[in-house]
Amino acid sequence: MLLDQLARPLRSLRLSVTDRCNLRCAYCMPEPDYVWLPRAELCDFGELAELAALFAGLGVDRIRLTGGEPLLRRDVPALVALLAARLVAERRGAAPLPGERAGRPELALTTNGILLAEQARALRAAGLDRLTVSLDTLRPERFAALTRRDAHRAVLGGIEAARAAGFGAPGDEALKLDMVVMRGVNDDEVVPMLDFARELRAELRFIEYMDVGGATRWRGDAVVSRAELLVAVGRRLGVPEPLAGRGSAPAERFRLPSGQVFGIVASTTTPFCLACDRARLTADGMLFLCLYASRGVDLKTPLRRGVPRAELAALLATTWGARAARGAEERLAESERAPLVPASQLRKNPHLEMHKRGG
Ligand code: 5AD
Ligand code: SF4
Repeated sequence: MLLDQLARPLRSLRLSVTDRCNLRCAYCMPEPDYVWLPRAELCDFGELAELAALFAGLGVDRIRLTGGEPLLRRDVPALVALLAARLVAERRGAAPLPGERAGRPELALTTNGILLAEQARALRAAGLDRLTVSLDTLRPERFAALTRRDAHRAVLGGIEAARAAGFGAPGDEALKLDMVVMRGVNDDEVVPMLDFARELRAELRFIEYMDVGGATRWRGDAVVSRAELLVAVGRRLGVPEPLAGRGSAPAERFRLPSGQVFGIVASTTTPFCLACDRARLTADGMLFLCLYASRGVDLKTPLRRGVPRAELAALLATTWGARAARGAEERLAESERAPLVPASQLRKNPHLEMHKRGG
């Protein structure tokens, strides 16, 4: 197993397939305009599959497609099918890894749901195992204010379609809903969102507002902390009981007296860097070892130049072996916490944006 400087294994890959997005969420893309990756620089599907296989060969057993909004890339179901086939071939004959399914790493996708209604069935048929939909509010006007797009209906329709396509069916991994909670914006919807998730038989996860690149309007007082969330939920629905077995997952999970399970991703107030087993690959093939990392390692250029597979694997292994990043913990140690990167600097180095490296 490949270990970094803090003895953390490489187990999970977040593969961003596009940096474009059809929303402008206040916590991610609040600026008037953005610098996009040039199309010629994007990895094509074959390159993405080769890079994914490289990671799988070194022990990655969970792969999540992200963006930007991944479903904006043309024909993502075809990419999922290609990845599934390429990864099965890669893993054939190898000892199975804990997270693997059907002889290959588990394939998941995070989406804002707008384009899900038209793609859910094809994604399922292509072999996608798990789905997470971002949903921050149940109110259409609030959704429009928060995301600068009037698309709430489309998202709800997408979630319905995902259920109908079999995501989160009994015996399957739950369909997940991610809610970034911001003070004065949607913190009054914590309980209504839990009710909504329960009816849907989905697992809601509250995400603390993070000061990542791109969050140029971040303020400490807008963060609703894990502790506050537990109090707010407990007051209305009874004391949440912590569930064991978090492993490397960013979410801590809790069970309510009703039996409903929910999660909290407390990266801002209670970071979990020492359990982080994730690598992030941007759509143009840059490897980042941390959400907060300022530099990445270019894997696409050597791949395009035809560098042999063994050499690429060695580059990846050396890079992971040197990893010492503890970005969220280092941010926590800062006394005067302000946005990580000013907007002017993001324009010069767009790779620092959260929407480039995947949420
Ligand atoms: N804080 C927390 N989560 C964020 N995301 C993007 N920006 C932030 C931020 N500043 C994540 C959310 C969202 C996903 C698409 O990206 O989880 O649901
Ligand atoms: Fe788009 Fe997701 Fe960022 Fe919202 S959080 S702007 S949906 S990438």
